[in-house]
Order: sequence, then structure tokens, then C-alpha cells
Amino acid sequence: MAKVTIIGATGNVGSFAAHTISEIPHVTEMLLMGRPGRENFLEGCCRDMSDSFAARGTQMRLAHSTRLVDVEGSDIIICTSGAPRQAGQDRNDLAVANARVVAETAEIVGERAPDALLLMVTNPVDVMTAVALKYSELEPWQVFGLGTHLDSMRLKALIAGYFKVHVSEVHTRIIGEHGESMVPLWSATTIGGIQICNLPTFSGIPHREMMETVRSSGQFIIKNKGATVYGPGEAIATLVRTILGDENRILTVSGYIKSEVHGIGDACIGVPARLNRKGVFPVPIRLEEQEVAGFKASVDKIRSLTAEVLE
Ligand code: 2OP
Repeated sequence: MAKVTIIGATGNVGSFAAHTISEIPHVTEMLLMGRPGRENFLEGCCRDMSDSFAARGTQMRLAHSTRLVDVEGSDIIICTSGAPRQAGQDRNDLAVANARVVAETAEIVGERAPDALLLMVTNPVDVMTAVALKYSELEPWQVFGLGTHLDSMRLKALIAGYFKVHVSEVHTRIIGEHGESMVPLWSATTIGGIQICNLPTFSGIPHREMMETVRSSGQFIIKNKGATVYGPGEAIATLVRTILGDENRILTVSGYIKSEVHGIGDACIGVPARLNRKGVFPVPIRLEEQEVAGFKASVDKIRSLTAEVLE
């Protein structure tokens, strides 16, 4: 039994995430939230979604609001509000403007829903996760970001396509910034449980091209259809389903890492983390030498951008 609130539900990602989340059995109540003045649009969203519920036999209380104080009682709050990236823009170009929106939202979430888990989607998501953690004053395990889970999904699909195997047979992770400095963990990539580096065909894998495709995916989709929707929407639903199902899966999301625990940090950045009903718990991992260097560079980049935004 859970109430999920989507802040920014009138946006591309927020509205599709509402659809994917509505298919999760644990969700018994969903609140679609938008800016004042969007009441009619939100009412339209609810009516449209209710029609899909009738088709599926979904029983769920569906409501909408333009008052942030209505986050009260939420178990999970998803924040997609803020300006979306335009074609040609880097996610980090949005940092200062979106930080203002996120800070204000996080403050109210912290006051009105102190027991909720806050999932940040707004870009640049690692920096916005840090802003939300600071202004909500929630515990570190309560605030996390979509991070490189989406990038890891994209790489997983590319590897499955290259080896012509079912995507569920591929396990891989990308850590670091949800952005240019992301780091693929080839050392932790397996196909059918076999380490990819132990496959005779390993040397022929187009690693560089695959990562170029992952890094430019968001930009490519935005340039050609205006916004990424289905990827982020499904990625959000996976995280919500894992948490509400208390599954303890280890997924790669933007979590808060402290230098004394992880040997690097303090920062909110894409790391493997255990997800359950209590929240998100980053798992310290040992990296290969070249992965350490890449991850450190990514952490340093996010730390300085976060400091700039929070100063
Ligand atoms: C993406 O890469 C939304 O930044 C997200 O699609």
C-alpha cells in the first residue's frame, strides 16, 4: 500500500512515469502535481489515466494538485520539475536555474513529508540530488537520483544486441556522472554470468563506439523527438517497483557517498546501491585502476559543479 507523488506530472517524463508507475501493484494512490494554472491539464491527465485503468482493471486512487503541501503522506516523491534539456544543451547548463526550483521543492518535501523517499529526475540529476538532500534536510538514504541507471540500461541493450542474447542475460553498470564523464564498469560486466573479458570475442567488442552511443543517446533523442520519455519513464518505474517491493536489488543510482566510507566523495553520484523500502544504500565497491581514475574525475567534476550551485 503506497502513495506515490509525481512533481512535474504535466511534463513529458513525469506524465509517462505516472503511466508506468500506475502498473505497479503496491501503488494504491498516485498524486499528479503541477504548477498553479495547470489544474485543467492535470484534470485531463487524471481522466485520461482513469480510462487506461478501466482497460487494465487497475484500482488506484488518482488525484491531482498544484499545491506542494499536498505531498503529505507520500511514500515516494518523484521530482521531474525544472527546465528540460533542449537540443544542443548540456545537462549542466540547467544547473543554476533548476537548483532554485529544486531547493524550494525540497524544503517543502522535507517539512511536509519527512518520512518519504525523494527520487530526483531533474537534470543535472547528480547536482539536483545534492541540492534536494541539502534543502530537504532528509537522511542521505531518503534522497537519491535516477543517475546512471538509465545509462546502464542503454549499455545493457547495446551489449545484448551485439552478442545477440536476451537483455536479461547481460549485467553491466555505468557509474559516475549522468553525463559526459560517466564510467562503464567493463570489469563488472557479465553475459550469462560469464565475465565479458573472459569471452574470446572480448577484444573485438566496440567498447568506445558503445559508450559514445550511450553518452549521446539523450542528445540524439532530444534532437529528433524533443525529449527522452520512454527510457526515463521505465527506469523510474523500475526503481519505484524495487523499493516498494522491498527487493534489496543493487541498482546504479545517484546516491550520497562519503569519503570516509567510500574512499571518495562527498558527493551525490551514480554508484551501485541497495534499494529497499527504507531507502537507498550505496554499496562500496573495489574498482580496476583505470575505472578508479575515471570515477575520481567524475566525482571531482560533480563536486565542483555542486559547490558552485550551493555556494
Ligand atoms: C536522459 O539521458 C533524461 O537525462 C535523461 O534521457
